[in-house]
Amino acid sequence: MSFDPYVVREDFPIFKKIVNGRNLIYFDNAATTQKPRQVVEAIADYYFNYNSNVLRSINTLSAQATDLYINSRRKIASFIGAREEEVVFTKNTTEGLNSLAEALPRLIGRKLTVVTSIMEHHSNLLPWRRMVSEKGGRLIVVGMDSDFTVNMDELERRLEEGCDVLTIVHVSNVLGTMNPVKEICRLAHKHGSLFVIDAAQSIPHMPFNVQEVEPDFMVFSGHKMLGPTGIGVLYIRKSLIEKIEPWELGGGMVKTVTMESQTYEDIPFRFEAGTPNVEGVVGLAAAVDYLNNIGLKNIVEHEANLVKHLMEGLDEGFIKVHGPDESSKHKGIVSFSVKGIHPHDVAQMLDADGIMVRSGALCAEPLVNALGVNAVVRVSLYLYNTVEEVDRFLDSMKKLRMLT
Ligand code: ALA
Repeated sequence: MSFDPYVVREDFPIFKKIVNGRNLIYFDNAATTQKPRQVVEAIADYYFNYNSNVLRSINTLSAQATDLYINSRRKIASFIGAREEEVVFTKNTTEGLNSLAEALPRLIGRKLTVVTSIMEHHSNLLPWRRMVSEKGGRLIVVGMDSDFTVNMDELERRLEEGCDVLTIVHVSNVLGTMNPVKEICRLAHKHGSLFVIDAAQSIPHMPFNVQEVEPDFMVFSGHKMLGPTGIGVLYIRKSLIEKIEPWELGGGMVKTVTMESQTYEDIPFRFEAGTPNVEGVVGLAAAVDYLNNIGLKNIVEHEANLVKHLMEGLDEGFIKVHGPDESSKHKGIVSFSVKGIHPHDVAQMLDADGIMVRSGALCAEPLVNALGVNAVVRVSLYLYNTVEEVDRFLDSMKKLRMLT
């Protein structure tokens, strides 16, 4: 299918919005993405025509809502090459990682050695740090290589020394650099470690198949891939999910309960205590349909062109891009510093021109500090952004230079 961002934009009413007197430019897609009409309409259709609790009541409406819920899971699972029983719905990536930090000590049954990296979002650092400080064990943080990906020699050394859980980000939310997760997964398994991928910034932007990479766990969020907020996925490999004790208990996840004991529901339902976020699941399935229809390969190519155009247009004497010089290594994300101007001021000046970016430590303070700064400005792109928008951004940056 040929891809045209201007056609895509017709599905996003928000792009008709005027912000500070200018047409909205939304370059904050790593924080959250905009929603197409199809996603919002799928949610409205659910509420207007099917709303009911799922997997509980014996009535027609509940059966219809349950079908919608089950079919949506099937679609979302197939998007990542998983089986439906390997997909657990969460609130978001953060909740997925916190749940793993809760579940894995119980699964493994000893004090854990967890290895992570300097490139992580806080959500792939803090839950593990608290887990080892409360339960014992060790958290080891591996550094970055000169190409701004995880240092593979150091990583392998740490794995050789003994590691229970290796947890690594796929695409950095600060630099856009991509870690070689397939190779990392092979190493982790060779050394007897479980492997978790934080795929929050990759699943929305590129094809990914769990059967090719073979991670044990993977987490991502719906709202970063055109879906609603409040819904995410925790993928757990089939051979492990049967062995994991649910981390949250309550209604809907048990088969029988007596005053002394309980038996759990089948997988994956035993991991979804309480009334689930049906609207979120339905909305995420609609987002998956939308992305499949566009084609992930088209998105990869489009973002690569935009990043190239953007990096070629930045004035090197005034702006320092963090991370690799090659635009192809920034997967839709470019973070930078501007000589003599605080990142928040840059973001505010862009905002005055109707351009939305994010500034600060981007929930990855150790990484931003390792870059030698305490904040950056970040442009993060998606399928609906255009070369024309990048040009408007470059014009604003030129104007900023002239003002200073
Ligand atoms: N993790 C999101 C970001 O990088 C919120 O902005």
